[in-house]
Amino acid sequence: VCIYQFADNFMTLYRTDLEEYLKDKGYSVTIVDGKNDQNTQTEQINTFLQQGVDVLIINPVQTTSAQTIVDTIKPSETPIVFINREPEKAVLDSYAGKCCYVGADARQSGTYQGELILETETQGDINGDGKITYIMCKGDPENIDAQYRTEYSIKALEDAGITVECLDDQVGNWATDKGQQIAANALSAHGDKIDVIFCNNDGMALGAAAAITAAGRTVGEDIYLLGVDALEECQEMVKNGTMTGTVLNDHVGQSHKAVDVAVQALNGEAIDNYYWVDYVKVDASYFG
Ligand code: GAL
Repeated sequence: VCIYQFADNFMTLYRTDLEEYLKDKGYSVTIVDGKNDQNTQTEQINTFLQQGVDVLIINPVQTTSAQTIVDTIKPSETPIVFINREPEKAVLDSYAGKCCYVGADARQSGTYQGELILETETQGDINGDGKITYIMCKGDPENIDAQYRTEYSIKALEDAGITVECLDDQVGNWATDKGQQIAANALSAHGDKIDVIFCNNDGMALGAAAAITAAGRTVGEDIYLLGVDALEECQEMVKNGTMTGTVLNDHVGQSHKAVDVAVQALNGEAIDNYYWVDYVKVDASYFG
């Protein structure tokens, strides 16, 4: 298993599930840290090929390198299960039957974020100025999850006929410290004008939550905060109201599907191109 970076909150949960589920099924597994560097990951893949592994589960550092990865692996006929970072369809087609993507449709997570805002008491306009003014904290710009969440969260608001205004839109690369910086700067520049801080993931939302507190603002009273992933600490925050909502990125469902498909492939069965796992909307009502 090649993970793009161990220092990623969500992928840490995901790889722990992968490891447990593979071991439960009686397989031996080695998981390596790509350290967010494609060259490092490419070397790791070459080493795995030399060792003659039966199947590779790959969370690519750069999806733009997926074709090179497939071209490197294909001659050995080793099956590949791409996870979490969706490559182009042409990449999967180039090794059809032996290569697939297991993931969740990021458009759904973006739409759910927008819907969570529409479901608030003020329909997102907490400062009552007639429009939703927002800050967007974005993940890695090359990642389709970041692109779709940014686009579809706002599309859901626009589709509902609401006027929106983006006050600031910054790349935080999924990281908590970046989320904090972006939110802190935006709060000091725009103050009460901000209705919503959208974060492409919970990692950044955790940072934004700290910045919101430091700025003397209160989620649910004078600002809204949204993430994606439903990390345990963020579920707690949604429960106690310090976060407006999040979207469950089902790492258990995805890791189990990835392993099941990998097992199918190593047993010599042909595999499909895509396997999808649903996101789930998480607001206070999720907890009953
Ligand atoms: C996303 C997830 C982020 C980050 C990213 C890594 O699906 O929401 O938190 O883990 O994957 O590619």
